[in-house]
Amino acid sequence: MSAEGHEIPLLEMRGVNTHYGAVHILKDVNLAIYPGELVCLLGGNASGKSTTLKTLLGMVTPTTGEVVLDGEAVTKESTSYRVERGITMVPENRRLFKRLSVLENLELGAYLRKDREQIALDLERIFDLFPRVKERLGQKSGTLSGGEQQMVAMGRALMSNPRVLLMDEPSMGLAPALVQTNFELIQQIHEEGVAIFMVEQNANMALSIADRGWVLQTGRVVLDDAADALLANPDLRASYLGEVGSA
Ligand SMILES: Nc1ncnc2c1ncn2[C@@H]1O[C@H](COP(=O)(O)OP(=O)(O)OP(=O)(O)O)[C@@H](O)[C@H]1O
Ligand SMILES: [Mg+2]
Repeated sequence: MSAEGHEIPLLEMRGVNTHYGAVHILKDVNLAIYPGELVCLLGGNASGKSTTLKTLLGMVTPTTGEVVLDGEAVTKESTSYRVERGITMVPENRRLFKRLSVLENLELGAYLRKDREQIALDLERIFDLFPRVKERLGQKSGTLSGGEQQMVAMGRALMSNPRVLLMDEPSMGLAPALVQTNFELIQQIHEEGVAIFMVEQNANMALSIADRGWVLQTGRVVLDDAADALLANPDLRASYLGEVGSA
């Protein structure tokens, strides 16, 4: 399971440019995610990280270039088409349906599926991963703590039985102790065979569990390397992530 293998990438971006109106956001972005990998996309604020995830999922259409799933261009296909074929996302700020219960939120994650028996098994798998979620099935999602909301958002995404999980800043807003737990849960999901494509501001933490990573700067990929090489790169923080006071 590595980039050096001869497998077809699960998900790719080839020469993608995106615009919001006249504003050019992603600039000739090329990325490939292989089955079972854990990769991360780093970058400062407004560098285009969320736009990259939205483009992969079909919520944003590129002006030029292709999004490729299992070797097939899906650039013009809908988000539901892509979800049915194994991509899903835990969005920035979780985006739970706050007035719906935890169970209703989880069930919504499976809305495109018809395999009832397997859905029930996946729900059990989610309860094993997140016992806290099972204790709160009837609770309105808007009243959960931030950490609990993150677990429900991950559970909801897993209910589509994905092969690749896109995660937009999974540690945002979590207390430091919970950030660690959250990363352990991400690793556990990864160990079950799900490829993970994670956007993070927490570069050290993300690179400590990732295989590879990319750094985006104003919409352009400026670094593309193994996670340990990125961790050892002295320019990463000051030059690319725009962190003041770091060298
Ligand atoms: N729907 C939209 N319409 C117009 N501009 C947008 C839209 N969505 C995002 N942008 C702009 O595109 C740029 C990139 O946004 P994006 O959300 O991809 O950045 P990001 O790297 O995820 O940032 P952050 O770290 O703050 O989440 C920003 O300047 C943002 O204001
Ligand atoms: Mg973002």
